[in-house]
Amino acid sequence: MTDTTSATTLLLCCRAGFEGECAAEIQTRAAEAGFAGFAKAKPDSGYVAFQPYGTDTRALAAALDFSALIFARQWIACGELLRELPVDDRVTPLLEAARGLADGPFGALRVETPDTNEAKALSAFCRPFEKAFAAAARKAGLLLDDARAPRLHLFFLSSAAGWAGVSQPGNSSDWPMGIPRLRFPSGAPSRSTLKLEEAFHVFLPPDERERRLRPGMTAVDLGAAPGGWTWQLVRRGLRVAAIDNGPMDETLMASGLVEHRREDGFRFRPREPVDWLVCDMVEQPARIAQLVAGWIADGAAKQAIFNLKLPMKKRWAELQRCEALIAETLAGSPYRLALKQLYHDREEVTGWLRRG
Ligand SMILES: C[S@@+](CC[C@H](N)C(=O)[O-])C[C@H]1O[C@@H](n2cnc3c(N)ncnc32)[C@H](O)[C@@H]1O
Repeated sequence: MTDTTSATTLLLCCRAGFEGECAAEIQTRAAEAGFAGFAKAKPDSGYVAFQPYGTDTRALAAALDFSALIFARQWIACGELLRELPVDDRVTPLLEAARGLADGPFGALRVETPDTNEAKALSAFCRPFEKAFAAAARKAGLLLDDARAPRLHLFFLSSAAGWAGVSQPGNSSDWPMGIPRLRFPSGAPSRSTLKLEEAFHVFLPPDERERRLRPGMTAVDLGAAPGGWTWQLVRRGLRVAAIDNGPMDETLMASGLVEHRREDGFRFRPREPVDWLVCDMVEQPARIAQLVAGWIADGAAKQAIFNLKLPMKKRWAELQRCEALIAETLAGSPYRLALKQLYHDREEVTGWLRRG
């Protein structure tokens, strides 16, 4: 198989309603890396199509770091959109489109759609199609099982229109549609618990997760009630100071690992430095960014995961302001910051900040 097809479009999957932010972000990051281009972003479509001028999007994706993108859940370097797939044989044109996208067989197949209510109806089509296509692709020598090889994506807008594209393991999301399948844990006091669980999966590779979240470690949870985030920490054996005027879940308190303090999260500071600060207070994002950066700057916490609730307008600009405030607060000390709009986030993004 030779790499001959050009990948003209970089498709970015995002939360429906955040296409404008996702487009502004890819345009900014591509420009910083020297690629000018044009982003098509239809409101509430759940994806953005970025077309760099005169550049193959596989080269663009290779030049950028997927984990540094805030709004993209997944990205796929695609050829042309196939608009009129024949009802009696969609497999052949998609196989043709896939053939030149990698210079060897693909290691996995993903049949996907945008994450919108409209596209949900397509899942009844996608499941059997995936089976049929995988069989044809294996027979054609295009598909093996190899976690290190490029992944082939078929991204459908309808049963008649879709893209074939490619992503590279290690610089893309491992999850289909970039969506982690996390089950709501029975016993957790609130659905928010899934946000922190997803954040641990997204920001910490498995070995680091074990190293950074060990029994006996200490944490502060600002805006903790009723305790979904605290529950995630307690589940891993951490001792937690839960700061909130609201009531905490009684079963969680019975663990003996939680100290509930009805105090203002903007004033509270622990007597001893803690391993973790987590913060889910509903407040202006700039205030939260400054608060969290302050804890890291003066060593009150080694690392932090926090949620930034975004305003309805100028959300991209607001995040850039938060990044600048964090940089200002931590000026002179090396730090690492990652921001991501997680699947379980709504009008918000989650941050991960630590020294080093
Ligand atoms: C989204 S809820 C937190 C949910 C929690 N993370 C969970 O998983 O159950 C936000 C919480 O922040 C608390 N909060 C807001 N401002 C606060 C402040 N200044 N100090 C302490 N808590 C605050 C609210 O009382 C509310 O319980």
